[in-house]
Amino acid sequence: MSAAEGVLDLLAALAPVGRDARTGGYDRPGFGTAERECREWFLDEARRRDLQVERDGNGNLVAWWRTGPPAVGGVVTGSHLDSVPQGGAFDGPLGVTSALAAVDVLRERGATPRRPLGVAVFAEEEGSRFGLACLGSRLLSGALPPARLRDLRDRDGRTAADALAELDLPAPPGPADLLQTPSAFVELHVEQGRDLVDRGAAVAVATAIRPHGRWRLDLRGRADHAGTTALADRDDPMLHLADAVLAARQEAEAAAALATVGRVHVEPNATNAIPSLVRAWLDVRGADETSVRAVVTGVGAAAGVEPVEESWSPETRFPEQLRERLAATLGGVPRIPTGAGHDAGVLAAAGVPAAMIFVRNPSGVSHSPVEHAEPGDCVSGVLALADVLEELACR
Ligand code: GLV
Ligand code: MN
Ligand code: MN
Repeated sequence: MSAAEGVLDLLAALAPVGRDARTGGYDRPGFGTAERECREWFLDEARRRDLQVERDGNGNLVAWWRTGPPAVGGVVTGSHLDSVPQGGAFDGPLGVTSALAAVDVLRERGATPRRPLGVAVFAEEEGSRFGLACLGSRLLSGALPPARLRDLRDRDGRTAADALAELDLPAPPGPADLLQTPSAFVELHVEQGRDLVDRGAAVAVATAIRPHGRWRLDLRGRADHAGTTALADRDDPMLHLADAVLAARQEAEAAAALATVGRVHVEPNATNAIPSLVRAWLDVRGADETSVRAVVTGVGAAAGVEPVEESWSPETRFPEQLRERLAATLGGVPRIPTGAGHDAGVLAAAGVPAAMIFVRNPSGVSHSPVEHAEPGDCVSGVLALADVLEELACR
């Protein structure tokens, strides 16, 4: 087996962790048991390769391959190991396993980094536990003030501040130089659409991340008996949710945007009780901020509430010079934008020269057990990443 094919063994080692045998989906919420098990696996793999692991106060990790003294200006690659509820096997882990396999490929080639080469694992990228995507990279880059951790709660009411405090981290949460002012950060990621299938290409480089955000709708009503309350006497917030969901679809169509209501919380959540509260989360993404905000305003008006903004990510353009250097190194691969958020986008917004490599996903599906990447494409992804890292770190 070649070093690049080693990515398949690395993926196989993670395959059972947090897997729901009934659906084949993965449940790896940030800082939870399954994600912790994935991190332990990462630490073992780093040790096996003699990489020096460093941690920050935000739950992020970097395993360094250093051939000289610690220095700024290294090259960092990596991704995340947490998942959305019932997620796929590749979103996140493909970037981490490919990074480790790319180190092996460089060693097999006899390449020696002139700059420190780091493999990063970012914490709570999906935001599926505390509601805010890219929590680790936002804290590290200073985009999120650590005081906000006290307001972010998981479904059990636990704050992100308490969850991080439990982890025995080397520093308090907040801006950190874990990446040591890198000269480049490159995240490899499974594609989350069908673009590369349609183009017949195994890999691409990213041009931009479209603007996106998350809003909360708090729809309040009055709990009452399902069998005795006349329809005319009800104050039923579930009807407002229905209005919101239909409006999300209509407004998104009108604005050529994407809008999703994928999570709701209902109180008291009983078949025979009218709800007193329906809390719903609206995810909207589009070509520009104006169209995204038009959708949110329309949904709020239809539901009769003011949507509460929980996060906002403006359009992020990956630096053209680095992107074109990657594309040239890879022999002129496609350049494509994405509507998905990534730690690479957070870092790019903070001024880090960041780039992404996407690997074809024949299902075109993501955030689902159906998400897939063929073994041959995973190997192509590792070779592409190794070529890029060799170009950026070894020349
Ligand atoms: C992260 O995957 C996101 O785009 O929500
Ligand atoms: Mn991801
Ligand atoms: Mn994701």
